[in-house]
Amino acid sequence: MKIFLDTADVKAVRRFAGMGVVDGVTTNPTLLAREGGDPEAAMAEMVGAVAGDVSLEVVSTDSASMIEEGKKLRRHGGNVVVKVPMTSDGLRACSALSSEEIPVNVTLVFSANQALLAAKAGAAYVSPFIGRLDDAGQDGMGLVRDMAEIFENYEMGAEILVASVRHPVHVLEAAKAGADVATVPPAVLEKMLRHPLTDIGLAAFLADWEAARAARAGK
Ligand code: G3P
Repeated sequence: MKIFLDTADVKAVRRFAGMGVVDGVTTNPTLLAREGGDPEAAMAEMVGAVAGDVSLEVVSTDSASMIEEGKKLRRHGGNVVVKVPMTSDGLRACSALSSEEIPVNVTLVFSANQALLAAKAGAAYVSPFIGRLDDAGQDGMGLVRDMAEIFENYEMGAEILVASVRHPVHVLEAAKAGADVATVPPAVLEKMLRHPLTDIGLAAFLADWEAARAARAGK
């Protein structure tokens, strides 16, 4: 399963990309607004910071403007994926952009029927928001399992990009459910790489090494 970083924080993207664990990036208007500064500059930096796909979201709501905005976003780089919302206009834009070989990520997906329609409209990625479904008392991971079954049944080309990830267990469950990608906030990726036994083990190795060195020096 690929791991994307769900952020507009360029420093975080560079930090994790340097560890070789980031396959791509997703961002959205909320994340860009949270960072402050010039969103265009942030998007350009993000696109240059990783070789993999970077989803940049349109803020237009009618299909013609979404298509125009999507084409402008693509000028940031060949790895840009145009993110459109799961609306009728979003599907129209998805279909048009996909037919011009511009990859599209359909976002804000909360049901298997929405996912089916997004895949039919030619989406490269379909993004179920599992954390928000869990928050609403529904089974976010159940949606991912349904999507995996449907996409496999009909050999649909769209990749399942699990979004609205809140903790490391979501990532594990997404992998077990057959998701193609999990997009994770930097704080979740940080938690994934840490384990207290790793820290304790490393401290013991270094202390033993130092004690042996001191003993040799004392002879
Ligand atoms: O990729 C979509 C994601 O950013 C939404 O996450 O935590 O706002 O539900 P959240």
